[in-house]
Parts: sequence; C-alpha cells; structure tokens
Amino acid sequence: MEKKLNILQDKIQQAKLGGGETRIEKQHQKGKLTARERIHFLMDDGSFEEIGMLVTHRSTDFGMEKQTFYGDGVITGYGTVNGRLVYVFAQDFTVFGGSLSETHAEKICKIMDLAMKVGAPLIGLNDSGGARIQEGVKSLGGYADIFYRNVLSSGVIPQISAIMGPCAGGAVYSPAMTDFTLMVESTSYMFVTGPNVVKTVTNEEVTAEELGGASAHSTKSGVTHLTAANDIDCIEKIKRLISFMPQNCEEKAPMIPYEIGDEKREQLKSIVPASANQPYDMREVIEGIMDEESFMEIHENYAENIVVGFARLAGRSVGLVANQPVSMAGVLDVNSSKKAARFVRFCDCFNIPLLVLVDVPGFLPGTDQEWNGIIVNGAKLLFAFSEATVPRVTLITRKAYGGAYDVMNSKHIGADLNFAWPSAEIAVMGAKGASEIIFRKEIKAADDPASKLLEKETEYAEKFANPYSATQRGFIDEVIQPEVSREKLIKAFAMLENKVEHLPKKKHSNIPL
Ligand code: HXC
Repeated sequence: MEKKLNILQDKIQQAKLGGGETRIEKQHQKGKLTARERIHFLMDDGSFEEIGMLVTHRSTDFGMEKQTFYGDGVITGYGTVNGRLVYVFAQDFTVFGGSLSETHAEKICKIMDLAMKVGAPLIGLNDSGGARIQEGVKSLGGYADIFYRNVLSSGVIPQISAIMGPCAGGAVYSPAMTDFTLMVESTSYMFVTGPNVVKTVTNEEVTAEELGGASAHSTKSGVTHLTAANDIDCIEKIKRLISFMPQNCEEKAPMIPYEIGDEKREQLKSIVPASANQPYDMREVIEGIMDEESFMEIHENYAENIVVGFARLAGRSVGLVANQPVSMAGVLDVNSSKKAARFVRFCDCFNIPLLVLVDVPGFLPGTDQEWNGIIVNGAKLLFAFSEATVPRVTLITRKAYGGAYDVMNSKHIGADLNFAWPSAEIAVMGAKGASEIIFRKEIKAADDPASKLLEKETEYAEKFANPYSATQRGFIDEVIQPEVSREKLIKAFAMLENKVEHLPKKKHSNIPL
C-alpha cells in the first residue's frame, strides 16, 4: 500500500511543478506568477479543490507522446472567494506555453458545465499561446467547445476573464464572450493575429504591446474593462468585481450589512456650476450619493464621456450609468452608447438595479459619428434600457436634451422613478439653438439681431430650461434638493426591491448589434 501511496504522491509532486522549475523561473522573471500561485492568491485559504490534476494529452504526432505533463497546461477546480463558491481555470504557461489541446479544453469544459449546473461564477485566468499547434483541428474543436459554453452560460452565471499573459488567436474569443475582461499591464496582450501577420498583410510595423497590450484595449478598442498593475492587483480586482454580483441570474447580489444614519450629503449642493456650459466631474456626484469608497468604475479610460460602474447604496449593489460633463460635455456618441448598453445588459441579466445620472447635451453630430453608425449604436442603449426589468431610477442633475433625454432611462422607456435637481434643464435642445431655429425670421428682421436672439433665448430658457415642464406632466416624479439625493435614492431602491416585471413572451429580442 505504501508503494501505491508513494506513486500517487510522486504524481502530485510532478503535477505541481507544471513544466518544471526552469520554466517556472522564466515565468517569474517576466514578472508573472505561475497558475498555481494565481489560484492561491485568488481563492480563500484552503478552499481550492482541484479537478483533473493528472490529466495528460493524448497526442502522438511530432513526438508529443514523449512530452507529457500532468494537468496538460491548465489547472481547474472550485473553491471560495470571500466565502462564495466560484469555479476557476488557470492556464499554465510553463506547459506548452499554456496552449490549448483537446484535453486542456475538456478540462475547462468540465468545470464550465459544473458551474452552470450549480449556478456559480466562472473565473478564467488566461495565459496561453493559443491553439496547441501540434494538435491541429482537435485544438480548434476544443476552442469551439468552450465558446459554445460561454454563450450558453451568458446571462446565467457571471463569467470573468483575466488576461495574464499572451492571448492570441482562439484564446481571445472566449474572453470576449464573457462578461468582464481584465488585463495586466506590460505582461499581457490580446490579438487575433500578432505583429508578424499584421506586417505581412497590411505592412504595418507594430509591437505586441501597441497592437494588443492593456493600454490599447482599455483606451482604444474597449475590449478590456479593467487593467491591473500586476498579477496580484488583477486578482484583487477580480475579487472586488464579483463582490457586486450574485451567484447566478436567479439570485440577488449579496447585501453588505448597513445601518441607516444621517444620509444628508451637503457637498452635493455645490457640484453643479452656475453656468450651464461649465463642466463638473460626475464622479463627485456618484461619490456624494453612494456608500463611501464603494464605487468601482468599469471601462474607466474608454469612452470617458459616459461613466459606468458598480457601487453600493446602503449596502445594496447598484449599477451606475452617468453622463460625464468633463469629457466632451457628456455627449452620447458611438462608443459611449455601446459601452453603456453592454453594462446595462449585464446588470439586467444579474438583477443589479440601475441608477442613471443624467447631464447630456444630446448625441454628437458629424460625419464621423453618422458613418460609424451613431443611429444603430445609440439605439443599442435605448434598446438596452427599454428591455431592462431590474429596478431603474434616474436622477437628472442638469441637461437632458433631445433624443438623449429619452435614451437616458426616461420614464417613457420604463424607468420606475425619475428625479431631477432644480438645476435640471429638460428640453428638445439648448435655448440658443432652439431660438435660432424657431425665431429665425424674427431675429433676422430685428434692428439688433444679437439682442433679439438673447431675448428669445432667455424666453425659451425660462420656459424649458428647468425641470418643471416635465414634472407637470409626470415625466419627473419629484424635483429634489441635491443634498437629500442619497436619502431619496436609498428609499427608492428599498421600495423597488421586490419589483417584478416581465417582457412580452418571445424567443429573444433583436437588439441592433
Ligand atoms: C504549442 C506552444 C505554443 C502553441 C507556445 N508554445 N505557443 N506550444 N502550441 N501554440 C510553447 C513553445 O514551444 C515553448 O515551449 C513554450 O510554449 C514557451 O513559448 P516561447 O515561445 O518560448 O515563449 P515566449 O517567447 O514568451 O512567446 C510566447 C508566444 C509564442 C508569443 C505565445 O510562443 C507564440 O507566438 N506562440 C504561438 C502563438 C500562436 O500562433 N498560436 C496559435 C494561434 S492560432 P518550450 O518547450 O520551449 O518551453 C489559434 C487558432 C484558434 O489559436 C482559432 C479558434 C477560433
């Protein structure tokens, strides 16, 4: 018996070494943790249970039968993060560069299936050279098996992908179909085809970092939602991110115990400047309203004219969508509409109530926007809000002009409660633009057109640049003083806690993609 026990111990020891000490050393030299170390830092102490530690590949081409490593380049299993069950896979770059073989894919699929059956989040720690080149089409099949499960799991369990090394070819599509992607600065990159192929096909000279590093994907493409300074930072961000989410679509996010105190926030009074053209940082409004230091911004450096993220309100997890006046006056454009629509849909999938803060001058005009499909992209946000059945509350802090008023979670598209500050201006367009159109003839005929325009502008502003015209019609439920916003919103979300709303029966909607 002892001999048999020793055989098992030997195998476990070998498995724990992955591709061997030299390759582990190389991994460390690059500033990266190994797959096992990452799992160690992610999971609660002693909670991780590995599945499939002794799996090996079945390939015999190119002498592969002589190169087998226990685990076959991926560590899979389950455990807890802050006491909550999660499933995890971590690709081991020390084994064939973490490349995906048939068996490697089977291991990932096995825990994906378990995560779905049990209803718990899936976390993927990706560090892979893509398809296992020696296996050819078997590897491609393995990828597709994972993609298919990503899609079936979408909207059922939260799926998080961390990119902690190279991710090329097939390795990028699974993360793209999960809910959130994080990238580690300097040590990770994602692209469909690398710099060499790019050079051959388009003659562009570009480095891997420029093409698909964390900076490119967090600012230019929007592929990644969060970036991290290093592996540990990335793991901490994953833990924080899932703290806002429920285990699955049938549950609500965990509530942090909270005692209601003095909820007045005097600082909110002085955030909106006297001049309507002066910017202010909407993050200050968010901080003034939400529980202290609870805000986690998503897509911080992409489409900065809209802010999205999670925060807590009296311990409740809330998804925030807010126009950002400091960036392009908070205008809606192609990228901000896409960014916000995706976030709204995530919150709706997972029963996370939405708070929408509005200060929007409208949609961005121009050929660039029109030719890039502002119509269809703006419609994504309109569609996403209209479809959302979670509690939805809106607070208009200043401008709510034109179509953007409708889009930003207006009453008309199903918002449950709509508040406005006294500084709100809810109209078809700004007073100047409106006067130039409707009083054109009168202004032209005047002895002093400039003062006539000013007179008409003032008249229009008095009539519409306020929240009262909308309030009289019930489009706004209440005009509130800024300092009581937090109190009002806590009560609003508590009242909406048990909201149930069903969409008309259908197979699925057809959001304008
Ligand atoms: C098998 C691989 C591998 C792969 C790396 N290795 N990628 N083995 N299949 N795809 C092995 C290397 O042979 C090496 O083995 C070890 O992993 C580390 O690789 P290095 O090249 O030494 O590391 P590094 O210099 O850090 O470069 C990492 C890398 C590079 C950038 C990822 O290895 C690389 O470019 N690999 C190929 C990437 C690729 O073209 N993949 C296929 C994409 S197509 P030893 O024994 O020396 O440790 C694809 C199609 C799927 O994925 C489409 C589905 C839709």
